[in-house]
Amino acid sequence: MEVRVLTTTLGTLRDDALVLLVGADEDVQRPVAAAGRAFAGAYGTIRERKVFTGKAGQTQVLTAPGGSRIATLVLAGRGVGDGLEGLRQAAANGLRAAREMGARSVSLLLPAGDGSARRADRVAEAVAEGALLGLYRFEVHRTEKAKTDVATLTLLAPRGERARAEAGARAGVVVGEAVLLARDLGNEPGNRCTPSFLAETARRIAAERGLEVRVFDAEEMSRLGMGALLGVARGSAEPPKLVVLTYEPRGVRGRADTVALVGKGLTFDSGGISIKPAAKMEDMKFDMSGGGAVIAAMEAIARLEVPVRVVGLVPATENMSGARAYKPGDVLKALNGVTIEVKNTDAEGRLILADALSYASTKLRPRPKAIVDIATLTGACVTALGDQYAGLMGNDERLAERVRRAGEDAGDPVWRLPIDKEGYRKQIESIYADVSNLGQPAGGGPITAAVFLERFVGGIPWAHLDVAGTAWTEKSAGTLTKGATGFGVRLFCRLLRDWGRGKP
Ligand code: BES
Ligand code: MN
Ligand code: ZN
Repeated sequence: MEVRVLTTTLGTLRDDALVLLVGADEDVQRPVAAAGRAFAGAYGTIRERKVFTGKAGQTQVLTAPGGSRIATLVLAGRGVGDGLEGLRQAAANGLRAAREMGARSVSLLLPAGDGSARRADRVAEAVAEGALLGLYRFEVHRTEKAKTDVATLTLLAPRGERARAEAGARAGVVVGEAVLLARDLGNEPGNRCTPSFLAETARRIAAERGLEVRVFDAEEMSRLGMGALLGVARGSAEPPKLVVLTYEPRGVRGRADTVALVGKGLTFDSGGISIKPAAKMEDMKFDMSGGGAVIAAMEAIARLEVPVRVVGLVPATENMSGARAYKPGDVLKALNGVTIEVKNTDAEGRLILADALSYASTKLRPRPKAIVDIATLTGACVTALGDQYAGLMGNDERLAERVRRAGEDAGDPVWRLPIDKEGYRKQIESIYADVSNLGQPAGGGPITAAVFLERFVGGIPWAHLDVAGTAWTEKSAGTLTKGATGFGVRLFCRLLRDWGRGKP
């Protein structure tokens, strides 16, 4: 879909559909009438009868007789207040409704910015991003594709705000497209989205966007001493990979901070010898969503030219139960020398992250100022927070607050869980090794996983995102579409765009 920004008057506009984003109880009689006389009467009626009130999530489609300048008018509610999230959701719902009416060219009237927090660029960015997310479909493996698609979206900017809106729309498209890439990766089945496929995707992005890329194979991992990642990979015939993507900001080279993003790239989690139940096991193709979010975010980061050096690391493997599979009771040694007793082969995510985090904290030069990891790590996080918030844990207050804020602004909400009490660390003590990969049945699953990860970050400020509950959704609504959500991409983009800009 092509997104462009114009300042046109509604009175001369010709398009298949026009979308208006309507606040709660807002009267949009004027733009409705300007869109076509045919709409004015119908609008008066639905307003009078309170059929459509601008409530969040609501849409109303009005149609005009054949030959009208605009065939379809879509009203999309953005609810109370004037936050960016309301705009994203309304744009997503509005565009989807327009597509259902068969519209190929759609215009959308941008609400005026207010010169401060809701600047014209942020408004346009939210709308462009929301539109892309709401229209997402994954049809790669379907012979019969959907018949209708929106080909062009024209954002109509208020006079004097066009240049700002254009810049915002461009950023919204970049970020939105990255989220769609992450969704594609999460929706691809395990037999296609293998560790090699993730590595190839990273290579392609690196070539297209001017990133540096390195892919470690099993032999190189073995030379480095990545016994934890290699242990998990033993049960699978698919070769494991460790992807390392590097973005160098232009101009600030020597002075820029380095931030490392680490994403779990488990391309299929059967549980291994500690095998999972059959029900819903097919969903475990999305267990690479953290890795997908990192690869996709790296693409956006390069296109947005963020002011910070970013290294994206994705440890990738399957977790299977082949003849050479690692077993409960095995002891593995991670790259940083820490030995791990495997009490459950289904707690494999923390193992592959152990080596990637070790690599980030001990091998990268310059050393990262911060490490943020993202992983579909624990079912217990789904129990704790459901699908509305991802879990946020970490060893640094400032970084945690930065990450939380970035998530809130960007539409990827995260909620902090504590890791400070020694009791959590006690849970993962082992008799046979330095640490166990499984907590006691005392509970706190997301936290015991986090205190395990902490052993591999070498004291560097670190934040951990458990996205087990937010990386996948069962139904389409607003910006979410059934299947992989691409959670984390927008958080990373916000975090790194704002890095060093004096935010907390
Ligand atoms: N990939 C799973 C976590 C998961 C579960 C993500 C459900 C999304 C939905 C992870 O590898 C796993 O199996 N975790 C175990 C850990 C346990 C054995 C300590 C879990 O949550 O059951
Ligand atoms: Mn598992
Ligand atoms: Zn897993």
